[in-house]
Amino acid sequence: MNQDELKRAVGQAAVDYIKPKLDDNSIVGVGTGSTANCFIDALAEIKHLFDGAVASSEASAERLRSHGIHVYDLNGVPSLDFYIDGADEINDRLEMIKGGGAALTREKIVAAVAKTFICVADESKQVDLLGAFPLPVEVVPMARSHVARELVKLGGDPVYREGVVTDNGGHIIDVHNMRIQSPITLEAEINQITGVITNGLFAQRAADVLLLGTQDGVKTLSQ
Ligand code: A5P
Repeated sequence: MNQDELKRAVGQAAVDYIKPKLDDNSIVGVGTGSTANCFIDALAEIKHLFDGAVASSEASAERLRSHGIHVYDLNGVPSLDFYIDGADEINDRLEMIKGGGAALTREKIVAAVAKTFICVADESKQVDLLGAFPLPVEVVPMARSHVARELVKLGGDPVYREGVVTDNGGHIIDVHNMRIQSPITLEAEINQITGVITNGLFAQRAADVLLLGTQDGVKTLSQ
């Protein structure tokens, strides 16, 4: 199977995973990116089994609506059973780097509300050590240079992602050359820098379940 087929396989596997637990009142948390898009397309096949969704980006909200799935504002939703999203890297503790698609802040917010975070990923995303993928950091635009200087002090090599404005009006700095030995600590340290909105380490709130697309089928890993 090629990478697109693996993404479709894990998207379908996530639907199969949540389907028995859905009812008429269920609202599903939905992530962002090409793997999350495969999940959305598979979810549309069972849209009669749940009430609606909350999306972590305008792009995902639009895709959900195009399938006839109602999209709720998170502020009106007291709890979510599931959040399903992809990752740029994931380790064996199910800690992740996310934000390649610049949706990290809303992804982290929806993940914080969900009881169960299901990561859907093809096997290219599995790593022993996080950091080969540049770590995205969303910043308030006027703080970009200050944050970049502070990221250098933490050992990184920050690169401004030119031309990208997030759904929140933020800018993205991608931090290269980080070998992230302590993801929970680094996540907190970066978030302490004034001007940072959030960073793409998902370690304080890691995934609970990983549906990993491999040539031997979809593997289920959990904490
Ligand atoms: C979006 O901001 C990201 O966090 C995505 O979840 C991540 O980049 C994975 O995207 P793909 O599924 O497209 O690889």
